[in-house]
Amino acid sequence: MDKIIINGGNPLKGKVTLGGAKNAVLPIMAASLLVDGTTHISRVPDLRDTRTMIKLLELVGGKAHLEGNDLWIDSKHVNKPVAPYDLVKTMRASFYVLGPLLARFGEAKVSLPGGCAWGPRPVDYHLQGLEMLGAKVTLESGYIRAKAKRLKGNHIRFDFPSVGATGNILMAAVTADGTTEIENAAREPEIMQLCQFLNSMGAKISGIGTHKIFIKGVNDLSPCDVSIIPDRIEAGTFLIAGAALGEVTVLEGEPDHLKVLLEKLEQTGANISISGKDICVRKGDVILPVDVETEVFPGYPTDLQAQWIALMTKAESDSVVTDTVYHDRFSHVAELNRFGADIRVLKNVASIKGKADLVGAPVMSTDIRASASLIIGGLMAKGKTEISRVYHIDRGYENIEEKFSSLGADITRLN
Ligand code: UD1
Repeated sequence: MDKIIINGGNPLKGKVTLGGAKNAVLPIMAASLLVDGTTHISRVPDLRDTRTMIKLLELVGGKAHLEGNDLWIDSKHVNKPVAPYDLVKTMRASFYVLGPLLARFGEAKVSLPGGCAWGPRPVDYHLQGLEMLGAKVTLESGYIRAKAKRLKGNHIRFDFPSVGATGNILMAAVTADGTTEIENAAREPEIMQLCQFLNSMGAKISGIGTHKIFIKGVNDLSPCDVSIIPDRIEAGTFLIAGAALGEVTVLEGEPDHLKVLLEKLEQTGANISISGKDICVRKGDVILPVDVETEVFPGYPTDLQAQWIALMTKAESDSVVTDTVYHDRFSHVAELNRFGADIRVLKNVASIKGKADLVGAPVMSTDIRASASLIIGGLMAKGKTEISRVYHIDRGYENIEEKFSSLGADITRLN
């Protein structure tokens, strides 16, 4: 299994070109199942998760061709609306195929994802939403089977603005009879792009980017092209690393998607400058402690919680990070403590002692963003760090060690 080796302490300086957003491309790939024809997606990040979704599209009968960062998906011959456990267990976002397959075939069978490193992560909102649209949903040997001759629009209210449930219901409802209203819908930029993509295919979605989305069902959708928005989490990861270790510019980003992070970085004493779509962060003389509470968009993203905790270990004094989206997403803490950090977790709150003297150590990746925090920790620590189970990082970051090396980090991959 691959390992990432870091010799910490080098300052970072330079520019990084961002890839397309993982969390935007995956639902858009699933949405391509709604049409009988070829979808062309550009700025596709070549990630392990993208490849898992390609495998899934092929298993259901689609054809996919990835060349560089361009992807063509031909859904003409899709004929087997089944997503097997072996794939769904490796990537929860596989569950996104349930809505479009049900809409297109009147029936779909998708493995229940099960738990993950951040706790149970249920899919009850997805299933209740589909039932509200008239689907009969049953659990059979670990698989969700959903059936409906034709889905019917309805009013659906989520208790929490779930990204995945909003995406799944959107894709199910675009061709339903009548109008669907999703109240307390997710407003994440990736969901906005899914809505815009569906509209380009002929869907009639309004209220995009608000908590109330209306979907007027249509009979036909046609294939179209789309370019994926920049990955705000990749951008945030490099910007946090820059605020820890020097000066980093992320190119071709979307500053509007990162407002709260940029405010927080400024509060640490870092200097931020924005030029068009490029964002530059320069570390201040010291790192001031800044508390963070994760929230749904436009709040501080839970996907940048682990990286912030890594940064705060070097702050001038103590800080507190609270995750209100996931209450059990702190597997990186025990690993960061192996570097000599002093972080304690009580329920969904991490208390971080500042001014840690970090020393490199062997550590283990536990999920995508936890791995990114270990890279930042390793870069800040003195001496050698060896990160194992790096397949987690490959799920969500394209060429991460090349990008950090180009900034001056001493980081390599051992195969
Ligand atoms: C997506 C992102 C993930 C991000 C998360 C929150 C993708 C592929 N993944 O995950 O990177 O961290 O949004 O921004 O886009 N919940 C339920 N029942 C449900 C669905 C969700 O209780 O049916 C709860 C979850 O346990 C969690 C909260 O709602 O506490 C938010 O989850 P959700 O927004 O659905 O996250 P994902 O779509 O899984």
